[in-house]
Amino acid sequence: MPYFDNAATSFPKPDCVLAAVEDCLRNYAANPGRSGHSMALKMDRAIYDTRERLCDFIGGEDPLRTVFTYNCTDSLNTAIHGFLRSGDHVVTTSMEHNSVNRPLMEMKNKGLIELTIVEGDRQGNITTEQIVTALRKNTSLVCMTHMSNLTGTIMPVEEVGKAIHGKAAFLVDAAQSIGVLPIHVQEMQIDMLCFPGHKGLFAPMGTGGLYIAPGVELQTIRQGGTGSFSQDFVQPQIMPDRLESGTPNGPGIIGLGAGLSFIEETGIDTLHQQEMKRMRQMIDGIQDEERILLYGPLDERQGPVLSLNIHGMDSAEVAYRLDQDYGIAVRPGLHCAPLAHKTIGTLDTGVVRFSFSYFNTEEEVDLAVDALRRIARGE
Ligand SMILES: Cc1ncc(COP(=O)(O)O)c(C=O)c1O
Repeated sequence: MPYFDNAATSFPKPDCVLAAVEDCLRNYAANPGRSGHSMALKMDRAIYDTRERLCDFIGGEDPLRTVFTYNCTDSLNTAIHGFLRSGDHVVTTSMEHNSVNRPLMEMKNKGLIELTIVEGDRQGNITTEQIVTALRKNTSLVCMTHMSNLTGTIMPVEEVGKAIHGKAAFLVDAAQSIGVLPIHVQEMQIDMLCFPGHKGLFAPMGTGGLYIAPGVELQTIRQGGTGSFSQDFVQPQIMPDRLESGTPNGPGIIGLGAGLSFIEETGIDTLHQQEMKRMRQMIDGIQDEERILLYGPLDERQGPVLSLNIHGMDSAEVAYRLDQDYGIAVRPGLHCAPLAHKTIGTLDTGVVRFSFSYFNTEEEVDLAVDALRRIARGE
């Protein structure tokens, strides 16, 4: 099935990921860090090895501050609820996913924090100047996405990181950018990086990560067994145990490690160029079709996510036709980002979203172009 829903979860996964997960499940998927037997130690070492490689991959300083989570939402909740204190002011943007909006709104509605939401333009662009202008004396956090899941708009994260350094902490939602765009938390002055494993890192679902720069301390939102300091009734201080209670998704983390190997061997630039080539092919194939509306910057400020509508048709109907008549997988409707839809003017209609991966072929895009043109012409 031509699969263009990689912004939700990437598919297919590289063979090396399948092989690594199967090998783990068959041979050593014991509970890490709890029992001292050889299998448990092997699992523990394999997870630590992945942690080190992941930290390197994002340009982090300390692998022990690279925490495994279960998805990007989990990372964002751990960071947002763990970092913010009563009386804090937060700057965020209108292009955020609900996994940023909702934790922030929850805290705002409880009267704990003040919130400023910086508005994007019709293509979802946000400028550094807008962010800096929104800072106040009590701003403790700037929280923004690296790349919009609706329009693919790439945000000026490095510029913002440098501009606000020393004024507020910087939290970046890298759900759409990890494995797609280069990320270096130290160079970009990012204090907390939240990301999933199951999208651009090619890991199975149930994987994610959170990097916390040295000097940033989080309160825990979850407490429990860590396999360390078991005599204590209270949560340990040491990282990553402090933020990693309960049995981890060991086989998923091993898959994430294999995903990193695939990215490193192929090269993130090669992956990105291929994804962008496919998106460009699709834009070129449909942009002269009068009834098709395209969203986003449609230039180098856009990553491999393309949202569109067919004039006069519901996005769900278009997606249904693509699926049923052509066997093409896309996502319709609202994309868990209501303010972003409002920003680009699609809150009432939703959009049909195509999100590309390295594995999409030229033939698949040709098929999608042909299908969209036919649907737009009422065939
Ligand atoms: C920008 C953005 N942030 C956060 C998330 C949440 O990610 P997850 O599904 O891994 O919790 C998504 C998911 O699509 C997203 O696109």
